[in-house]
Amino acid sequence: MSVHRPAQRVTVPQLMAYKGTRKIASLTAYIAPIARLLDESLDMILVGDSTAMVGYDLPDTLSITPETMAAHAAAVVRATRQACIIVDMPFGSYQQSPAQAFANAASMMAASGVSGVKLEGGQVLADTTRFLVDRGIPVLAHVGLMPQYVHTMGGFKAQGMTDAAARRILADAHAHAQAGAFGVVLEGISEPLARQITAELDIPTIGIGASPACDGQILVTEDILGLSGDRIPKFAHRFGDAAQVIRDAVGAYAQSVREESFPTLDHCFGVRSKA
Ligand code: KIV
Repeated sequence: MSVHRPAQRVTVPQLMAYKGTRKIASLTAYIAPIARLLDESLDMILVGDSTAMVGYDLPDTLSITPETMAAHAAAVVRATRQACIIVDMPFGSYQQSPAQAFANAASMMAASGVSGVKLEGGQVLADTTRFLVDRGIPVLAHVGLMPQYVHTMGGFKAQGMTDAAARRILADAHAHAQAGAFGVVLEGISEPLARQITAELDIPTIGIGASPACDGQILVTEDILGLSGDRIPKFAHRFGDAAQVIRDAVGAYAQSVREESFPTLDHCFGVRSKA
């Protein structure tokens, strides 16, 4: 099936208008070569703070800085032309106050050229969403399983499994929608809750371990390409095996070097032609 792709970069208002008309396809990217390959197929690319774990092999997302996120985001923006690019606000860069959030979001946007920011948080962060949106910064909220709250949650666990917890997450999503968020990521929550939030909100929901009913889906790209090792989350699906492609190419390269079939003189400079 061919999907109509706009010639210009997808905008935040366009993403909002997709609700109820077409699903939003989204993935993460942190570096230019991957972003370049994703661009033609996706509506939105998230420069996620999951790069801490996926790209830097750290145990959680807590230690990545706004400067590092901005550098990754700038590379992804430079490498793409069509998808809407959103950057994650890293832990500690927005929770202190709306003013702190604005300063960090504005400098990450200025340094990278992204179209908006994502922040994790419940109702307590809704004022921050409002503060940013009123000052020209589009916000994608993230509720449910929030990796930056790993220590509060006691691990990366599905959320909203009791009635009380589900009510709280529903209220979190509504609070950010009322505060002007352009969308909300629903991560690792019970399926009926994700379905209910999607039905109740006027803004798109982007699911990751949530529900097929969400207005869009997002996954970590390395998980769908087989680049995350043997363990992938229950909610992900491996759509390809890039690991095998890389292993085969690197194996062929190493073998050519050892058997001296690479490089040849064709790969060298200033080669003297034979008389
Ligand atoms: O950091 C991230 O990659 C994310 C998602 C996958 C939603 O927040």
